[in-house]
Amino acid sequence: MNDPRRGARQTAYRILAATRADALDPDKADLWDTGRVESDQSIQVAYAGRPLETGMRVFWSVCIWDHDGQPSPWSEPAWWEMGLFRKFNWEPIWKAQWIGLPRPADADSGPCPHLRRVFHLVRPLKRARAYASALGLYRLFVNGTRVGQDCFTPGFTDYHRRVPYQTYDVTGMLQEGANAVGLLLGDGWFSGHCCCAGPRLFGNQPWGLLQLQIEYEDGASETILTDPSWKGAAGPIQQSDLLMGETYDARREIPGWSRPEFDDSGWAPVVTHRWSAVPLVAQCAPTVQVEREIRPAVRHPRPDGAVIFDLGQNIAGWVRLRVRGPAGTTVTLRHGEMLDDDGSLYTTNLRSAKATDRYTLRGGEEEVYEPAFTYHGFRYVEVRGYPGEPTLDAVTGMVAHSAIPFTGTFECSHPLVNRLQQNILWSQRANFFDVPTDCPQRDERAGWLGDAQMFCRTAACNAEVAAFFTKYLRDVEDTQKPNGAVADFAPRIPPDYDAGPGWGDALLIIPWTMYLCYGDTRLLRRHYRAMQKWVDYVHEANPDLIWRNRVGNNYADWLNVDATTPWAVVATAFFARSVDLLAQISRVVGKDADADRYAALFHDIRDAFNRAFVTEDARILATTRWVPPHEPIPREEGTDTQTAYVLALGFDLLPPAKRTEAAEHLRRRIEERNGHLSTGFIGCAHLLPVLTQAGMHDLAYRLLLNDTFPSWLYPVRNGATTMWERWDGWTKERGFNTGKEGGPDGMNSFNHYALGAVGEWLYGTVAGLAPAEDGPGWKRIVVRPRPGGGLLWARAAVGTPYGQAVCSWNLADGRFTLEVAVPPNTTAAVHVPAPDIAAVREGDGPAANAPGVRAARHADGHAVFDVAAGSYRFGAPA
Ligand code: BGC
Repeated sequence: MNDPRRGARQTAYRILAATRADALDPDKADLWDTGRVESDQSIQVAYAGRPLETGMRVFWSVCIWDHDGQPSPWSEPAWWEMGLFRKFNWEPIWKAQWIGLPRPADADSGPCPHLRRVFHLVRPLKRARAYASALGLYRLFVNGTRVGQDCFTPGFTDYHRRVPYQTYDVTGMLQEGANAVGLLLGDGWFSGHCCCAGPRLFGNQPWGLLQLQIEYEDGASETILTDPSWKGAAGPIQQSDLLMGETYDARREIPGWSRPEFDDSGWAPVVTHRWSAVPLVAQCAPTVQVEREIRPAVRHPRPDGAVIFDLGQNIAGWVRLRVRGPAGTTVTLRHGEMLDDDGSLYTTNLRSAKATDRYTLRGGEEEVYEPAFTYHGFRYVEVRGYPGEPTLDAVTGMVAHSAIPFTGTFECSHPLVNRLQQNILWSQRANFFDVPTDCPQRDERAGWLGDAQMFCRTAACNAEVAAFFTKYLRDVEDTQKPNGAVADFAPRIPPDYDAGPGWGDALLIIPWTMYLCYGDTRLLRRHYRAMQKWVDYVHEANPDLIWRNRVGNNYADWLNVDATTPWAVVATAFFARSVDLLAQISRVVGKDADADRYAALFHDIRDAFNRAFVTEDARILATTRWVPPHEPIPREEGTDTQTAYVLALGFDLLPPAKRTEAAEHLRRRIEERNGHLSTGFIGCAHLLPVLTQAGMHDLAYRLLLNDTFPSWLYPVRNGATTMWERWDGWTKERGFNTGKEGGPDGMNSFNHYALGAVGEWLYGTVAGLAPAEDGPGWKRIVVRPRPGGGLLWARAAVGTPYGQAVCSWNLADGRFTLEVAVPPNTTAAVHVPAPDIAAVREGDGPAANAPGVRAARHADGHAVFDVAAGSYRFGAPA
């Protein structure tokens, strides 16, 4: 709905679907006609027409009736296309074979194969679709041109469980007569270094797959498949690895290799490979693409002749190199996030990732190089061996990430907070890389569940991540063992850890968050059984309801600041949280008996938590030592950390009578650190929301605006352009943290989004824009800005499924002004700080009588207006 009027809403809809765009007519639609449906549902309406066929394109259009009963015109035809799936006759739909070039089984890497085949089209063409995939990575070429702009396809999954494929419309790239298709293969996650698991995890070498389905005008069809008739050769890419980098010798380029006239008589026949029983699945999330380019601003010549270029921004991606010089000259590019004290490239935190690209010149004209199958996390690139003096335009930073639309914005009157928001965005960009990675630079880049769970709500404010997490949740469920255990990271790869508290619970927290932000109940249904299995897995092993068994690696409040929260406290809090969510999820999907059972279990866990850890005076005490199951857990003084209180309050684990006191303990814990936080990954996500909820809003602002260690603004003040893994990744006094947790080489990423989970509070509380729990998908919106911290204004916009929601406030001349845009077909509760309702105006008149305002009440120092869709401008004395 695109309707700026106040009160704009849908009262009915009608959807048509047809096999042709010109059949989108109530009398002609051959697939689906819903008829007029009296409903305000305008998102998440799933197709329910005639069964669809493999490869079919479906056109659709919608008409809606507004609040006056007026119909809209029919929408412009839109379409989707079905993937490949088996027909009823069980004839296999995939006839293509996996092909590649033989590589010695013990080779750590090898040249990237170029594979090709020629075919002839003798009749006029109607349509052609390329369905392509790889065990490894691929790029597809047709008649000398690369197909699409997708990078790192087919993407990262557990290739033993499912292999994604992509679909391309190549009709316009083919011609009558001779045509050629080419596949360029890389190792990627399949056979290159994968996360911490080393090389050749899924196989020894890459394999490609292509099924090109051609339909002629006269109704005949033909399929071009990867099979033994293809030929292959090595080309310029000597080796390419996600972590190590790429080595490219331009003297070995093969001009025209994917054109039909190319002479491939010297090429070798391909070999085929069996990879049976693994389903090929249509890719369901945005692919990785180049989003923007960054020119370096500064260059630092080094004493040894190298030059370090500074992009001014830490990114994930690679560098495009421009160079001219003698054939055979090799230019080496090393990437790093920081510089050492002596100005050299800091690479300790890359651990074993070499992050080095090498380019050997062919000689002659200017040469331009970009690696195909590697990426790095870096701000600085060191160029060595460049013929002549490299100028600033010798390198360009190429920023790549999953092509999620960044539809959210947050800004306020505090420049460092704005930089913090930018850093959160940059770390989201760098780590939304087909899976949500922890970091883009070191030899890890794994889809850690804990990090993803903490950050997903913030991620959904910044960008449209529904499809991204839909794919990831499949990866997560793929890690589940029959006993219910999920892995610490998805896809599950060696060292193959079973998840512990706060990590495995991602299986519930992420779908629930997606439901709140996008209104999608299918995710809840799809993963329901898996969620139950996870909860049972924990429950079975911990019948006393204190989670001590099956804690996996138990990271507890990972990377806290000298404030270890007792393991059992963190674990039991998350057990309670998951069960509570499962109760709510059961309710949403209509399983009321389950809902009652889990709600009862939640109360029992809460009781156990209180019995075990909560004192008379509302302190949360335990021990940080390991205590075997069934033995009582001693209550040791001093173990009541900030995180302990944050989890207990945030997950609703305390009896009402103890909440205020517990919040006071939390305040004390913060004040005794001179107003600083001590929370790690787990605690920091909930810290500020809990303080706000407890009415300690000033303290929340104080924590946000601190710029001394440890705080969110300390890195910002020290020049961070992304979120750091550690509060003290670098300090003035100590320099780089060489953190013992990651082994001798340190674990110190400068691009980790986890601590960026504070973003949710920036949107929801500072600016004041959030989806209401009772109106998931932003059907109902809570506008509740909480000015503080000396801020003079703040503004947030979120791309909701209904359209853009905006909330913008400012304090000037003794007045508080709040501008709100409520998308069509939604409603909002707008909270304006004011002594009473009468003090608030909307536009030129009293707010309570303004058009679109349906009700008003006063609570908690706020006048609360229940408003319909539309744009409003509220004002009250400040
Ligand atoms: C990763 C994390 C992850 C953690 C688990 C680290 O190596 O970078 O972000 O959550 O391990 O403790």
